[in-house]
Parts: sequence; C-alpha cells; structure tokens
Amino acid sequence: MAWPESGAVRVLYTEAQIREKVSELGRRITCDYDGKPLVLVGILNGSAPFLCDLMRRIELPIEYSFISVSSYGRDTTSSGVVRVHSELRHDVRDKHVLVVEDIVDTGLSLERSYLLPNLLERGATTVKICALMDKPCRRRAKITPDYIGFTIGDEFVVGYGLDADGRYRNLPFVGVCGRSGRENDGQK
Ligand code: IMP
Repeated sequence: MAWPESGAVRVLYTEAQIREKVSELGRRITCDYDGKPLVLVGILNGSAPFLCDLMRRIELPIEYSFISVSSYGRDTTSSGVVRVHSELRHDVRDKHVLVVEDIVDTGLSLERSYLLPNLLERGATTVKICALMDKPCRRRAKITPDYIGFTIGDEFVVGYGLDADGRYRNLPFVGVCGRSGRENDGQK
C-alpha cells in the first residue's frame, strides 16, 4: 500500500530539509542558552516529533515537558475556545522556558491559553517560543515566535506531527494536503 495515498499530499519540506533546519535551530538555542537553565515545553500532540528531534540538537543539560491544549472547534479560523487538558507539572521557577510549537497560525491558541503569562507567574525567568513553522499571514493575535524554522503562506500542512482530521501525523516530511484541511477537529 502506498503511503500517503497517491496525490493526497505534496511534499513541501523533505526529511533532509527538516533535519537541517532542526539542527540549525538547535545550534542557535545552544548558543543563546549557554549557562542558563532551560526547560522546553512542548504542546501536544503536534509538537512531539519536533521537540524530540530538537532537544537532541541542543548541546546543553536541558529539561522538557509536554502540555496539552486544544484550540479549534470544527473551524480552524473562528473558534475562540481554548482548553488546557493537561497542566504543566514541571517546576519552572528561575528557569528559562522555550515553548515548542509545531506551527503558529492565528496565534489564538497560545494567546487564549494564557500559557506565556502563566509560565511567568510560575516564576520562569524568560518565556520564548520556538515554532517549526510560522504562518504570519494568518495571525490574529500578538504572538511572534522567537525561533522559526520555516515561514509559510496560507497553506494547510500535514506531517512531522501535524494532522488533518487526525491523519498524516506520522509522515516524516511536511506536505500540503490535497484538500483545504480547514475542518481540522481541534486535536492539536
Ligand atoms: P493557532 O492557534 O491558529 O496558531 O493554531 C495553532 C495550532 O493549530 C497548531 O499548533 C496546530 O496544531 C494547528 N494548525 C494550525 N495550522 C495548521 C496546519 O496547517 N496544519 C495542521 N495543523 C495546523
């Protein structure tokens, strides 16, 4: 069986391009956080492959943790509801936090989860965002990732953790779905 189905997904970034980009981000983060206690906080489910690869490219004694939030109802463009399903149990006091996202699209899920102010209230020294992909043309919140892998246009992408209706997360590359994908069910 051919996977993905023929014509369903057009490759946007190959495994090699992603590997190179993740290494580059890892090098920058290694330089920027040298000598500072760093915690990576990944947002499930989408950021899992990215965080797992990125942390192995950071040559520092870091910690990492995941939280789970969902932002979308049936429509990726309009839902204002953001639910935090699992709280961060990690102690971030006096540590630098890097929130790891698969993609920042409207920015509303990060804004409406209050994750960034919440981490500062918990005593984090700094809170920054690292996103594998950024879609600035769709931004509706004042969220700007500090580290960006790829800047893309208004395209719905899948693979390397990103899904369309729960599918394609396990593709090793990032591709553009044959259909709009805007009916994503909200499972991040
Ligand atoms: P935002 O709140 O609009 O920034 O959306 C953030 C989340 O929506 C991401 O972490 C993804 O889980 C999901 N998302 C946004 N754009 C895409 C896409 O192109 N493909 C798959 N999921 C996406």
